[in-house]
Amino acid sequence: MGMNTVSRQRVGEKIWTIVVAAGSGSRFGSPKQFSLINERRVVDWAVETARLVSDGVVVVLPADQATREGGVVGGATRSASVRSGLAEVPDDATIICVHDAARPFASEFLFDEVIDAVCAGADGAVPGLPVVDTIKFVGENNVVISTPNRRDLVAVQTPQAFRAKTLRQAHAHNPEGTDDSTLVENNGFRVVVVNGDPLNRKITTPEDLNWARAVSRGEV
Ligand code: CTP
Ligand code: MG
Repeated sequence: MGMNTVSRQRVGEKIWTIVVAAGSGSRFGSPKQFSLINERRVVDWAVETARLVSDGVVVVLPADQATREGGVVGGATRSASVRSGLAEVPDDATIICVHDAARPFASEFLFDEVIDAVCAGADGAVPGLPVVDTIKFVGENNVVISTPNRRDLVAVQTPQAFRAKTLRQAHAHNPEGTDDSTLVENNGFRVVVVNGDPLNRKITTPEDLNWARAVSRGEV
């Protein structure tokens, strides 16, 4: 790294990343994070990039894998798995990123973007993409309650970066959420959105894995 703004503002920061890979892949049909994309497992793609941008990485795995390959044993929910990882992040970490193992193509640039936003003063930063569909709140009997303005909506990805003490405080009383930003927001902290990346798609169904394999072959 040259003497650019990034290196200067990161002086004194210790950046750790938790990669959560302890899910069961119920929508996929199996633990998708261990499927292969071009000879490497989905989780390995995610961990390799995380290592390039972090001082340390904690990988959270199902019990079997954690025993076999080293790593932390996850919990019953994503939030519980993040907490398993948090317990292994050293106290001197100043910024903690949380990343889904199921997102193999998160770029170093995207990690840098969320980390830089926290260095610049945000409590947290998340990648977001514009929403293409109109989204509706739906209540009982499938009755529409309201429609938020699409211009105010983004679809959020990982990696998500946070001030370490903020993320630890947000997880203190074992809350549940589908991402970490939700928990941090609910504690009144300021989370900013940076530009997400369409290539940083989450593997959720077998169709997503077919897409990822095609990307790795240069076909997409
Ligand atoms: N995850 C985890 N521990 C859990 C649940 C999820 O570490 N108890 C991880 C997954 O391995 C994945 C990420 O969190 O990398 C995002 O979760 P998701 O895409 O929902 O994966 P799964 O929960 O495995 O899939 P599903 O919801 O279809 O069961
Ligand atoms: Mg899940």
